[in-house]
Amino acid sequence: MRGGPRRPPPAHRLYFATPRRPDAAVTHELASIIDFIRYGASRFSAAGLTFGHSHDNPIDEATHLVLASLHLPPDIPPAYGAGRLTSEERERVLALIERRVSERLPVAYLVGETWFAGLKFKSDRRALVPRSPIAELIESGFTPWLDHRHVERALDLCTGSGCIGIAMAEYNPDWQVDIVDISDDALSLARENIVFQHVEGRVEAIKSDLFSGLKGRRYDLIVSNPPYVTEDEYAALPGEYSHEPKLGLTSGEDGLDICIRMLDEAADYLTDDGLLIVEVGESERALVEVLPEVPFVWIEFKVGAMGVFALERRDLIEHADAIRAEARARRDR
Ligand SMILES: C[S@@+](CC[C@H](N)C(=O)[O-])C[C@H]1O[C@@H](n2cnc3c(N)ncnc32)[C@H](O)[C@@H]1O
Repeated sequence: MRGGPRRPPPAHRLYFATPRRPDAAVTHELASIIDFIRYGASRFSAAGLTFGHSHDNPIDEATHLVLASLHLPPDIPPAYGAGRLTSEERERVLALIERRVSERLPVAYLVGETWFAGLKFKSDRRALVPRSPIAELIESGFTPWLDHRHVERALDLCTGSGCIGIAMAEYNPDWQVDIVDISDDALSLARENIVFQHVEGRVEAIKSDLFSGLKGRRYDLIVSNPPYVTEDEYAALPGEYSHEPKLGLTSGEDGLDICIRMLDEAADYLTDDGLLIVEVGESERALVEVLPEVPFVWIEFKVGAMGVFALERRDLIEHADAIRAEARARRDR
């Protein structure tokens, strides 16, 4: 998953002892931006950290940490890598590197920002670190999935930091976008991101338990990266994930409770020709098992399958009985 981990890391990664903090005599040799990125990457590798929140390797992670904490953009020309840090900057960067190792805090939380669909977002413990593969769909204009559809109103359900809905609004200046979450914390961060990205007026943040607060609204496109980690997977997650709100990760024993509720209710909130796109990550297999007759279209990304499906409103209606039966069975459990 991107919304959560796609696969638990190998067990040996979970039991690395945290290496002792090197003494000042060693870190004193570090001078340039490149020195600190290289040092951070080595510390992260040696500590057996888990990557997967914003990056999948220690060098990108260290680059993010060092550049963001120096208030530099990620596309800084290579020549600046030789630039030397002031003593105050050295202390600040070293302290963050040590916290990444000792507390297993995701780098986005340490520096308070991350990137999604090429846009910068504020990020902290109020919501999951943005990492959904849906970014790729937004950047490509949902081609070919939107097909001939004309979108006026779109919904980002389970918005967390607001990244998906706000990015949809940024890429499509003529769309009106609602972003919804049940968590006050997530919504407060999402509202800050609306202002940060200057999309006030075109993006509305709404507190709602799925569709319950959206009565009477209809959308041409509903996109969601809901919680979908199973309880067993959650129990095995590396420390990095413990800093994220559990409400954003788990969704019942098989990870599908929220998704099934969404499938049961979505048709009432889609326009006649509307499209639903949902990420379920590794829970794809379980979803196909519980609803084998539903014609989910599994989207291929540049890196392959990521457990994201598209479904038309007409398919939701055609298979409403099976979906309702599954939703009811879960409610009665
Ligand atoms: C996997 S996170 C996704 C956040 C964001 N969409 C992203 O891609 O980074 C799921 C979000 O769903 C929210 N959520 C959980 N249950 C919900 C519910 N019943 N109704 C609305 N939002 C819910 C959580 O608070 C969390 O912010």
